[in-house]
Amino acid sequence: PAPGWTTNADVVVVGSGVAGLTAALRVRRARLRVLVVTKAMLDDGSTRWAQGGIAAALGEGDTPEQHLADTLVAGAGLCDEDAVRLLVTEGPDAVRRLIATGAAFDRDAAGEILLTREGGHHRRRIAHAGGDATGAEISRALVEAVRADAEIEVIEHALVLDLLTDAQGCTAGLTLHVMGEGQRDGVGAVHARAVVLATGGMGQVFSATTNPAVSTGDGVALALRAGAEVTDLEFVQFHPTVLWLGPEAHGQQPLISEAVRGEGAHLVDADGVRFMVGQHELAELAPRDIVAKGIMRRMQETGAEHMYLDGRHFGAAMWEERFPTILASCRAHGIDPVTELIPVAPAAHYASGGVRTDLSGRTSVSGLYACGEVACTGVHGANRLASNSLLEGLVFAERIAADIVERDAAGKLTPRHEDVSRPVSRVPLLAPESRAEIQRLMTGGVGVLRSAESMAAAAEGLAALAVDGLDEHAKGESPQVETWEATNLHLVATALTTAARLREETRGCHWREDFPDRDDAHWRRHLTTRLASGAF
Ligand code: SIN
Repeated sequence: PAPGWTTNADVVVVGSGVAGLTAALRVRRARLRVLVVTKAMLDDGSTRWAQGGIAAALGEGDTPEQHLADTLVAGAGLCDEDAVRLLVTEGPDAVRRLIATGAAFDRDAAGEILLTREGGHHRRRIAHAGGDATGAEISRALVEAVRADAEIEVIEHALVLDLLTDAQGCTAGLTLHVMGEGQRDGVGAVHARAVVLATGGMGQVFSATTNPAVSTGDGVALALRAGAEVTDLEFVQFHPTVLWLGPEAHGQQPLISEAVRGEGAHLVDADGVRFMVGQHELAELAPRDIVAKGIMRRMQETGAEHMYLDGRHFGAAMWEERFPTILASCRAHGIDPVTELIPVAPAAHYASGGVRTDLSGRTSVSGLYACGEVACTGVHGANRLASNSLLEGLVFAERIAADIVERDAAGKLTPRHEDVSRPVSRVPLLAPESRAEIQRLMTGGVGVLRSAESMAAAAEGLAALAVDGLDEHAKGESPQVETWEATNLHLVATALTTAARLREETRGCHWREDFPDRDDAHWRRHLTTRLASGAF
């Protein structure tokens, strides 16, 4: 269908997590007209689920250089050092500006910010809020600031469909599908001079994930359809300690923050053996990929479906004060961490790759920016360091805003093309029921453990779905959100599988059983995926 309604803005920000809302607030300072569109409500999305915190060299004796060193080690040889340097040097002030915006972090009696440790960090460097509810506090503060600015327009329940471009291929806005916003109901178009993608991750590609249901890779899918480059998609991070709720558990799973290990909890097997000791100098606090692999190996060796986290020595008071969210979530599932071991297993957590950007957040399509989990700025390499994601969202959102404002002042932002209009994408749409099959295929074939054989089976299944899984009802009428989500999941799953099949080595969170070693001679490089004529 053609767009049924149109509106204008200077800048459209897609997504309302830490990256999107920070970008919107900073762009607004230059009096540009900002529209935020978000698929659910302003405070939905991954940011509010973040537990552990935000990493920055804020503590006494800590320096950006040390933060840089830990980030590079975790990234397993594939971080872009310039990007990491920006992240760690601009990070502390970006956190201070976040505090000035209203986010309240936990402090000691003297008023100093309390810092914890997580995997891969050699120092206490993680600021947290509400004990283990850091993302919720950041989200609260940013949503409040956005709501307080009457000049920032917000459209909720708005799923982006496709990028609009002008005759030169420059960004001219986007099409979107809005549910129940009065006159802006159904498929519409926003004409704009810049688009900032801040749509978060794609964890829903897998059966079990820490990501909320809205994390369906919409931004990466839009970028691929727009011809933008995406990079490092094969590096999906599996969080080592997700509450194990049984073999059939599906969808978003409760996270047990690394900060629990940072405060001294141990990983043990059913016999009480601390199996990470001796595997890495940091034991349970090794980088995340190493701990996830350690758990998987022990599960294979012992035939167990999960391992355990032991935090019983914390005592009730510490659990209640330091980890109230995790305590409540465990108890809601019948486990009391004060007296019992917590069953844990790895689950999909974070896309280290995404839409390729430069240091100003620009993608390969003029006027299209990407920020936060949807982006690949180069800071994460083959494996993101814990708690660097909120920081990346903050720092690069500010850089994007600065770039947009500077280009606007220099007259370099594409003028709005009021006459740009074209039908909404004609890509074949998949039936909503395909989602479960995509998740099954990806979990079995391209999950924590990968091999040429397992991934070929997933690729075959995905190709079959492109034929058998089409949504016959979507033709002619306005497709439903679930239809677009299934279509986006299928596209990003196919791109991810394509990249993962190519990389014949084990590096960071890409673990190939058939190529168990890291191969710096051939593979110390990025893989860029682009959609050309409908295929990768
Ligand atoms: C956690 O709290 O363990 C998650 C932190 C992160 O993903 O960076």
